Amino acid sequence: MVNKATKPTDTLIGRDTWNIQLDKNGHLKHFLTTEGLGTEILTQILDTAESFADINEKRVKKVPLLRGKTIVNLFFEASTRTRTTFELAAKRLSADVLNVDTKTSATSKGESLLDTLQNIQAMHCDMFVVRHSNSGAAHYIANNVAPNISVINAGDGSHAHPTQAMLDMFTIRRKKGTNFGNLRVAIVGDILHSRVARSQIHALNILNTGDVRVIAPKTLLPVDIENMGVKVFHDLKTGIKDADVVIMLRLQKERMQGALLPSEHEYFQLYGLTEERLQLAKSDVIVMHPGPINRGVEIDSSVADGARSVILDQVSYGISVRMAVMTMTLGREPEVEQVREDSDEHSSRGGR
Ligand code: CP
Repeated sequence: MVNKATKPTDTLIGRDTWNIQLDKNGHLKHFLTTEGLGTEILTQILDTAESFADINEKRVKKVPLLRGKTIVNLFFEASTRTRTTFELAAKRLSADVLNVDTKTSATSKGESLLDTLQNIQAMHCDMFVVRHSNSGAAHYIANNVAPNISVINAGDGSHAHPTQAMLDMFTIRRKKGTNFGNLRVAIVGDILHSRVARSQIHALNILNTGDVRVIAPKTLLPVDIENMGVKVFHDLKTGIKDADVVIMLRLQKERMQGALLPSEHEYFQLYGLTEERLQLAKSDVIVMHPGPINRGVEIDSSVADGARSVILDQVSYGISVRMAVMTMTLGREPEVEQVREDSDEHSSRGGR
């Protein structure tokens, strides 16, 4: 019997985290973490997202793949990019979307997470997209929902943010080609508190990236970071030398306990990405950031808005990638040609 008072904690992320993501045929059922998934599934997500990219450029941005499905966005933590692109992705697939405002929902009156879920589940929905400040929340929910419901992790504590990592992989593949083996990717900043960095590192290694490196002060790195298959640098200039991709991360002050840094000003002096420092990377380097960006703390405005920045492309690609994950987890992933036909037919009928 499920203890309704149980709160999700780190201990709920067991060794079987990735196993519950797959159904008995090895297809994606939930998407909770990139860790432990195979190259085939990640490549399938990227290829499926590619098949949706055209739709987002059309006059009528809609296909009927998820018509009749109900998707519930449950965001217990702030979000701009993730929540809105999940909503757009669902609408472009013709699903019905319910955005639960957790600030005004009964959770604010003390209702447990599980009771909230069971009540929404009684409304016959098909998918929960969940963001929560506790690591393990999405895994906990996936273990406790009805078997017909898929759960997508939209960010849980400092554990994982798998759709962000996949839209980042999509961005890298679009800008640098399919051979990740040739690439040097540098992730800079607050790795310790970053669910994005964890999910990116797993995804980059699964896609056989040649050189994955992290650059941060010791206080912002997990103690066992080398075990994740990355090279560690504490000096920004050395770390970004000849990089093909530089991914900047913000300082996640909401998750910091105690003083891990002297000051933001000093942090920028040592780890802030400026035009001058970016010259050390390859001349065709791309600069990425999952957002929200803190200008003048981890990145200079001239870099964030500059020619090498693909930060807003990442946001746009997030729609296609989330469309891909939604269709795959609901068992509706399309043939590429079928998506084009559906979209053309929908456009010619005026999108009704
Ligand atoms: N990258 C990201 O998760 O942004 P939001 O917090 O705005 O969703």
